[in-house]
Amino acid sequence: MYCVQPITPEILYVGGSDRRLTLFENTYPLSRGVSYNAYLVLDEKTVLMDTVDWAIGERFFENLTHALEGRTLDYVVVNHMEPDHAATLGELLRRYPDVQVVGTAKTMAMIGQFFGMDLAGRGITVKEGETLTTGRHTFTFYMAPMVHWPEVMVTYDNTEKVLFCADAFGTFGALNGNLFADEVDFPRDWLAEARRYYANIVGKYGAQVQALLKKAAGLEIAMLCPLHGPIWRKDIGWFVDKYQTWSTYMPEEQGVMIACASIYGHTEQAAEVVANRLAQHGVRNIALYDLSHHHVSEMVSEAFRWSHLVLASATYNNGLFTPMENLLLDLKAHNFQNRTVALMENGSWAPQAGKLMREAVDGMKNMRILEPSITIKSASGEDQRPALEALADAIIADLKG
Ligand code: FEO
Repeated sequence: MYCVQPITPEILYVGGSDRRLTLFENTYPLSRGVSYNAYLVLDEKTVLMDTVDWAIGERFFENLTHALEGRTLDYVVVNHMEPDHAATLGELLRRYPDVQVVGTAKTMAMIGQFFGMDLAGRGITVKEGETLTTGRHTFTFYMAPMVHWPEVMVTYDNTEKVLFCADAFGTFGALNGNLFADEVDFPRDWLAEARRYYANIVGKYGAQVQALLKKAAGLEIAMLCPLHGPIWRKDIGWFVDKYQTWSTYMPEEQGVMIACASIYGHTEQAAEVVANRLAQHGVRNIALYDLSHHHVSEMVSEAFRWSHLVLASATYNNGLFTPMENLLLDLKAHNFQNRTVALMENGSWAPQAGKLMREAVDGMKNMRILEPSITIKSASGEDQRPALEALADAIIADLKG
């Protein structure tokens, strides 16, 4: 059965949601699924904006057939070739043999790579600022390389002031009938997953996101249509501000994330003393995590959120305890920067974690390490409380500063 909704009188939502997928990109856990958005513009010519993952391929083709109401499909605009959107493109080209494919030169090359297809006369390669008029609508194409792949572009509908923005402004999470961000409680129910999506999928490419935001700032935008998650037509500036913060690697909130990689709990116990001291001196934004119990993508997302990090890790195999090693590798891979960090290490006979965490943090841009760093030998006793409180006090002073 089809499931199509109009988002304007001439633009229809023809995508759908996958609530069965457990790992997005076979890596990122999903607790609430994900949507693959696709849009059909019914003009004098018909224009499809992107396709979908095969998981919802059957529903997508039903939607498209219904929405076309017997008309042919004239154009498919491919803003992004990652298979979560383009897996069904090959089948679309077989079902609609006369459709013209609009995309960048890299998109055309990837169509050959993924589908072994030569578009031979069916491809319209576009460059920055080029346009396509389909009747009442004129679309302008803006290149957005590395948001999140090199072939990415976004498409601006000059007529309805709609920006089809590819992966930008997307989020994990299946849609629940409501298509628009203003129909749900986005800050309460969606922001954490939007942040996790941003940090892990495009977090590495802050400079490229900045370039796209600058282009978007020159457009009058009535609606943002991403490839995942709700559509934006109100309070667009609120979400753009989030992207501004995240893409410049600035903290979203003043507060302290305490990340513990603790084998038997002694490192975590010492970290709790720090958390309690912070709380007793008025710090309210404290998030203490046992890294073994959270997927690293969630911890990367939280690191993008907070201004201060306490990294507390046991030594393991003469290196870092694996959950901390994974977090630091992932933060580095996502170009994480601009934070203040405090370090706590544990080691019963040869503590190494402090040195290794310091090296990892020093390998990131614009990071500052607060002193004193803490070394725990197996477990902290009362004799170590002054040092732990001194560390908390240094964080409090820095927060106030
Ligand atoms: Fe949603 Fe980069 O694909």
